[in-house]
Amino acid sequence: MLAPAIPQSTPVDPIALRRAFGTFLTGVTVITTHDVEGRPRGMTANSFSSVSLDPPLLLVCVGKGAASFEAFNSTDSFAVNLLDAGQTELSNLFASKAADKFASVSHDRIHTGAPVLTECMTWFDCTVYNRIDAGDHIILLGEVQAFGTSPSAPLGFCRGRYAAVKDPLPPDWLASSGMINGYLIEADGDLLLAANGKGGWTLPSTPRRIVDGRLALAGAESLTLLPDDTFLYSVFDVSDGDPGYLIYRARLAQEAKGLTLPPGLRFFSMEDLPYGEIPVREIRTMLKRYVRESASRRFGIFVASGDGGRLAMVDEAQPWAQVPQL
Ligand SMILES: Cc1cc2nc3c(=O)[nH]c(=O)nc-3n(C[C@H](O)[C@H](O)[C@H](O)COP(=O)(O)O)c2cc1C
Repeated sequence: MLAPAIPQSTPVDPIALRRAFGTFLTGVTVITTHDVEGRPRGMTANSFSSVSLDPPLLLVCVGKGAASFEAFNSTDSFAVNLLDAGQTELSNLFASKAADKFASVSHDRIHTGAPVLTECMTWFDCTVYNRIDAGDHIILLGEVQAFGTSPSAPLGFCRGRYAAVKDPLPPDWLASSGMINGYLIEADGDLLLAANGKGGWTLPSTPRRIVDGRLALAGAESLTLLPDDTFLYSVFDVSDGDPGYLIYRARLAQEAKGLTLPPGLRFFSMEDLPYGEIPVREIRTMLKRYVRESASRRFGIFVASGDGGRLAMVDEAQPWAQVPQL
């Protein structure tokens, strides 16, 4: 049952109001910038909201009492880092008054120069679009210059407590995001490429993710992949209007030798990839990185927009890196 409405003449009790605001379930972000001395500054904030797609705008509200208020009030750029379900400690750190919150937190410059956390679910790198005075806060409107996202589960917050989101990734989410699912299919040190129909090469792709360890390539019989050896390797957008790419790393269960491939698919030695005939720059760059990492057995997960990106290295000790020796 609803509590009785407060009569209009009664001043609003800020503690009761804070509790009522707190019933709104949000995610958790860490907003970051540099102060005038160039030091990284940041704070936990759940007042984030998307605002507009054209131009691409978002907002956060920054309390005037925060130690980092001056930095946010005078900066030209800032980043909003959306935390994943495993980052409650990071949220607590950035909600604290710790002297140097960045001492043990890895961050990169992507586009504007604002510190973007190397580990987070989604990030937005923004220039300041507007600053609006709003009581004991300012509303900081940012214009998104670059962003990146990942399919990890978000950290939630409600009634002063962290909350978990049940079923955070709908099964068809990746496919329905309209992105191209490309595959780095490796066998015996070779990589599978697909003719792009214009005399060049690209990565084999499917409209659907792997189902039960089998990958159905357009016009080809299903190729069997090693399910434990398949993981998301790179997420990027290209500026030419193509949808974005989700690139998965995969290895064939069977030997490449003796496999009858349909026309348009061909294995290339990793030392001899036809870079000059791969028109999409981002795919060329990614393939060069893959060949390099393949030699050292240390792989990165790359998340990018057309304007920037970031790379998180994955140790072979991690569960998804149980890669059999080539
Ligand atoms: C989940 C959560 C959400 C928060 N959201 C905001 C917010 O949107 N705006 C804000 O000014 N402070 C917010 N805070 C409080 C700041 O994180 C906190 O005051 C912090 O100490 C500010 O850091 P600073 O004083 O080093 O700048 C939030 C805290 C938590 C735990």
